[in-house]
Amino acid sequence: MKSLTIRRPDDWHLHLRDGDMLKGVTPESTRDFGRAIIMPNLVPPVVTKANAEAYRDRILAAIPEGADFEPLMTLYLTEATDPVDVIAASKAGLVKAVKLYPAGATTNSASGVRDFDKVRGVLEAMAEAGLPLCVHGEVTDADIDIFDREAVFIDRVLDPLRRSTPGLRVVMEHITTEEGVAYAASVGPDLGATITTHHLIINRNHILVGGIRPHYYCLPVAKREKHRLALRKAATSGDPTYFLGTDSAPHVDPLKETACGCAGVFSSTNTMSCLAHVFEENAALDKLEAFASLNGPAFYRLAPNDATITLEKQTDPVEYPAKIETGDGPVTVFDPGYPLHWRVV
Ligand code: DOR
Ligand code: ZN
Repeated sequence: MKSLTIRRPDDWHLHLRDGDMLKGVTPESTRDFGRAIIMPNLVPPVVTKANAEAYRDRILAAIPEGADFEPLMTLYLTEATDPVDVIAASKAGLVKAVKLYPAGATTNSASGVRDFDKVRGVLEAMAEAGLPLCVHGEVTDADIDIFDREAVFIDRVLDPLRRSTPGLRVVMEHITTEEGVAYAASVGPDLGATITTHHLIINRNHILVGGIRPHYYCLPVAKREKHRLALRKAATSGDPTYFLGTDSAPHVDPLKETACGCAGVFSSTNTMSCLAHVFEENAALDKLEAFASLNGPAFYRLAPNDATITLEKQTDPVEYPAKIETGDGPVTVFDPGYPLHWRVV
């Protein structure tokens, strides 16, 4: 039997939601992960230090007894965000990043930013404090093809934004293109990029060939195969720029399996099995720890977890539930499309 012991991984981009969904999905992350950057796109969003404190308490209450898990909170950047409140939340150790959603880019992003001049003061205060900006990097212009929205965002928004705010630390969230990989590689230590589990495994054919697969639909949408291969190369390289952010984003099945389905792939349950499979396929199992457990904390200027996990490769496929049941309804678990043999023991 093959086995691999690595530092306990962290998830640098996670949606836990609220209420019954929060209670249902939290144990799926606390099993394998030590920490997670928690996305603030609730309705209404987590905008202030007080909002983040209250949300953190609700998350802590949903963590199973005995689990070793720390939620790292973020604030949702709006055009009305107060720099003083953001810096107070950061200084208190409560908030580890601020999330930028271009208005209308994705689920619950209506309160996001339209006019970047309105957030200049916040971004400058963040640059001074070293507080990272996590960026959903897609333009929202109706005339830009959805498969081009990431590459256009880099040129039209991200690069100008970074140049006009020297010192701003940025995480390009869930990159999906070779342009994203290349831009991240070109910048240096003040810019990191997260990569999801599912974007290492699916391309756009998985969503559309042979019938439409709503459980593979997410934003940014999966791109062509050459982009998936670029993401694989980046993730398995060991380069400290790239780290795991699952973007695990639960929606109940009736909201996915419908004429206008929600965007989001739920992968918390089996991410480590999927990643071990991917890294083994790329002959890079020795780089899994860097991607899942070391590069993220280094970017966020935190120590890696002291605890470890062990993955073992077994002959029989690992059984994962097709769905998890939450108080809100069933949530389908990401299906990589092949049997998984690596298991966290
Ligand atoms: O697929 C996605 N789902 N992409 C996002 O950016 C948001 C997320 C969600 O909150 O459901
Ligand atoms: Zn997300």
